[in-house]
Amino acid sequence: MPQYILALDQGTTSSRAILFDRQGQVVACAQQEYPQHFPQPGWVEHDPLDIWNSQLACARQVLREFNVSARQVAAIGIANQRETTVVWDRATGEPIARAIVWQDRRTAGACDRLREAGHARLVGRSTGLELDAYFSATKLQWLLENVPGARERAERGELCFGTIDSWLAYKLCGRHVTDVSNASRTMLYNIHSMRWDPALLDLFGVPSAMLPEVVRSSEQVGVVDAGWFGGPIPLSGIAGDQQAATFGQACYDKGMVKNTYGTGCFMLMHAGYVPPVSRNRLLATVGWKVDGRTDYMLEGSVFMAGATVQWLRDGLGIIKQSSDVEALATSVPDAGGVMLVPAFVGLGAPHWDPYARGTIVGMTRGTTAAHIARAAVEAIAYQSAELLAAMQKDAACPVREVRADGGAARNDLLMQFQADLLGVPVVRPAVTETTALGAAYLAGLAQGFWASREEIGALWRAQRRFEPAMGADLRAELRGRWARAVEHAKGWIE
Ligand code: G3P
Repeated sequence: MPQYILALDQGTTSSRAILFDRQGQVVACAQQEYPQHFPQPGWVEHDPLDIWNSQLACARQVLREFNVSARQVAAIGIANQRETTVVWDRATGEPIARAIVWQDRRTAGACDRLREAGHARLVGRSTGLELDAYFSATKLQWLLENVPGARERAERGELCFGTIDSWLAYKLCGRHVTDVSNASRTMLYNIHSMRWDPALLDLFGVPSAMLPEVVRSSEQVGVVDAGWFGGPIPLSGIAGDQQAATFGQACYDKGMVKNTYGTGCFMLMHAGYVPPVSRNRLLATVGWKVDGRTDYMLEGSVFMAGATVQWLRDGLGIIKQSSDVEALATSVPDAGGVMLVPAFVGLGAPHWDPYARGTIVGMTRGTTAAHIARAAVEAIAYQSAELLAAMQKDAACPVREVRADGGAARNDLLMQFQADLLGVPVVRPAVTETTALGAAYLAGLAQGFWASREEIGALWRAQRRFEPAMGADLRAELRGRWARAVEHAKGWIE
């Protein structure tokens, strides 16, 4: 009788494999970082083989170290960095180029031209997305235009396009598939008809022969080749990492919100069962499709969150490791009037400005490294507060709490400041590995390992609740000051 589900959490800077038991508890975990490539300013690439090799190595390690055989694993689930675009040869599995990562800005100009030509409305209406370089469509277009022979080969059906879930599913069990949540981030998928959209394929010049088959988020899509883990294991759950985290946080009802503090910050609100329309520049996106029903989300994406702390470490050298930031930031009572807008790769929601750049304002002769560190931590909370404000306006329903996860959710200073700025409680769950947990739940549901969402929802537990303690006047003053700081960052390189 299988006792475990194996979740593969393929993130932007590392691959992880986590084994969960029936209680949704972490049994074992392995993690491997892999190389990032920055060939030009604003470009970010990954080698798809590094992604595959690191992911496979972690999964094998976790099974080996805990002496778990393939027979004890009921299913595998995938949660992945979204939008990142891979093209490979259908026959040999060879990638034709490095993957273009979601953070890559090389197609910002192409997006401008499409916007000037009046295509933003069509894109927004069909996909729920902003016409931005963040999504896969213009990255794929770039590969088809710049890799010699790619377009002709794609038209002949010799090439496969996929996001990272597709790439891993292809390597694991030879199927060319993607799930609805990942498809909804490509800017090629219509979230109303739930099909690849012919008008968008035409607009971006994408041959339909290279597209993956779209599957539900919770269904058996194949059986993982017995050679990889010493026996066959069904692959039965796939979701983009942010949607997976929302599922792992048990946000199953309209109005429930989670915020993941990872490389970036991704706030998702459950928006019901028809595609929502944002009037505040948030994204409408597919959460998951389970048992024939599609759940939709409103999403706000901020590109730099934990990555700002990495910059304090690697760029400024004012901390040795990321976890040192809390001690340095709490060594001063506040940021001393300093505000840091981490628009290093432009600004995402709700500003969508690819030409914004990082800015520090408010420094005096008394400013120290501690104030900068504190401003960097606070910037994560300010950006998230902008997202929640937009969501509250769009959804017109009260938000009772925000469920937090991701690495920086361990930072108590950040969690308290976040609750203060939002004026809404922030809750940290007992299991913070919610991304992998969501993928495990989706995979386990398809295999009957768990019977229902209700059963899963009952497993969710809070570890700590941060109540807002800041007065409304101070909150309004700080948020007003932040809005002014953001204006300084905007349009910097245009
Ligand atoms: O949309 C990008 C997002 O999926 C990346 O997530 O966890 O790799 O920062 P993460």
